Amino acid sequence: EPLVRHGDEVLTFENAPDGDPAVAAVRERVRAALAAGRVEMVGALGGDAGAGMGSTRVAADGSPAAVPHLGSTGEVDGVVERARSLAPTWAAAGADARVAVLSDVANRLEAAREQLIAVMAHEAGKTVGESEPEVSEAIDFARWYAGSAAGLADVGGEELTFEPVAVTLVTPPWNFPVAIAVGGVLAALAAGSAVVMKPSPLAARCGVAVARHVRDALAAAGHDPDLVQVVQVAEDEVGRHLVAHDGVDQVVLTGSLETAELFAGWRAGRDGVGGPRVFAETSGKNVLVVTPSADLDLAVADVVRSAFGHAGQKCSAASLVILVGSVGRSRRFHEQLLDAVTSLRVGVPDDLGTGMGPVVERPGGKLLRALTTLEQGETWAVQPREVAPPAGHEEWEGRLWTPGVRVGVQPGSWFHLTECFGPVLGVMRADTLEEAIAWQNAVPFGLTGGIHSLDAGEIDRWLAAVEVGNAYVNRHITGAVVQRQPFGGGRGPRWGRVPRPGGRRT
Ligand code: ALA
Repeated sequence: EPLVRHGDEVLTFENAPDGDPAVAAVRERVRAALAAGRVEMVGALGGDAGAGMGSTRVAADGSPAAVPHLGSTGEVDGVVERARSLAPTWAAAGADARVAVLSDVANRLEAAREQLIAVMAHEAGKTVGESEPEVSEAIDFARWYAGSAAGLADVGGEELTFEPVAVTLVTPPWNFPVAIAVGGVLAALAAGSAVVMKPSPLAARCGVAVARHVRDALAAAGHDPDLVQVVQVAEDEVGRHLVAHDGVDQVVLTGSLETAELFAGWRAGRDGVGGPRVFAETSGKNVLVVTPSADLDLAVADVVRSAFGHAGQKCSAASLVILVGSVGRSRRFHEQLLDAVTSLRVGVPDDLGTGMGPVVERPGGKLLRALTTLEQGETWAVQPREVAPPAGHEEWEGRLWTPGVRVGVQPGSWFHLTECFGPVLGVMRADTLEEAIAWQNAVPFGLTGGIHSLDAGEIDRWLAAVEVGNAYVNRHITGAVVQRQPFGGGRGPRWGRVPRPGGRRT
């Protein structure tokens, strides 16, 4: 199906393929980029390889290396004014110009696949298995929004004119530091807006890498690269000045609910009727239901992938599995699940053999509690433990944990209702599908959810009752695919919804 007709041209969309790790040349390219990226990262930070690289990701002055740190409200004004001064020319450049730049970004990302994998590994702890599809998703976003930019000019033969806002502040997260950065920045550019990007301090270099490709594509086409500026600010009065700035028309955030609330509060007095212009996709506490009719082999594989991909640090991750009826008593299911979990190979992200990589920071707060403390009625089927990184990789000290499975999670308990964002899966047992659905709908967020069942009636009942944005049947519950599976929450606190063409595929 053509994506959109643009003049005489039909733009089509195809998902970018991941690099195939079975091909030796692909593995070699990735290995070489990982090795070079490590040298570059350590060099840029002025540290020694293996000597606390993780803890020096933020430089001594508090700013992540390589990202301009705005230390005063005056500097913020300068950045925003620069963006505003360039916005009218970009808005007037028209659809063709936008399509050309965004398509070029897609090609540049494709050419830089291995370098992007490397920066995600070294800075954000992503394994190659997770970052390969993330780069593909970033490319997908670029191509999709290129198509959207064209579509804005001519829809079904009628001419639609969209008035772009001048400046969009995009604040991507650390867990998808490339794809979501690309998505946010390019959606704004496609619509004719200038962008200020403030990446997470835990993945600022990933943000810089993305911005570099977009800026290069702008410059190559004769546009001012400052249409996309990347900056860092602290969460103090300077950060507040940026988020609430009169010259920032809207904020696009992917991050924690707390940050969304903070930003919305900062803009509360600024945006007036209609509420704060903060478009946020935030937290997740997601549930997979397995019924007795399910193909249990597939269910185990999808539970493990959903719960422990990127060490459970996806807003889409499965935090709970609810076993219905006899599945809860099935020895085979339990043995398979525990075998699969305990055979996950925990390791450092730049080792191609790693199955599950580190968590982004030394665990504290809710995650530490989830990893170490049981509630009433619960036992460890697999107890998580901290493991030491291999020699020469001390930057991951405190951040490598084996996956955990807590069984006997009680309805209404702390683990049932709390987002923990890490490699811990809770198991609940329900008597009926209806009970499972009630427990699933009781969690405070409704982002993704899944069912494994081979009974069409069960699937229909679940689909009719479950309150989630992305409902998956007989599939893992992470990895929404651009174009096929629009991604966004169905319930719980939301601050507007970014109209996304799809989600990330990891
Ligand atoms: N969109 C991402 C996923 O689907 C978070 O896993």
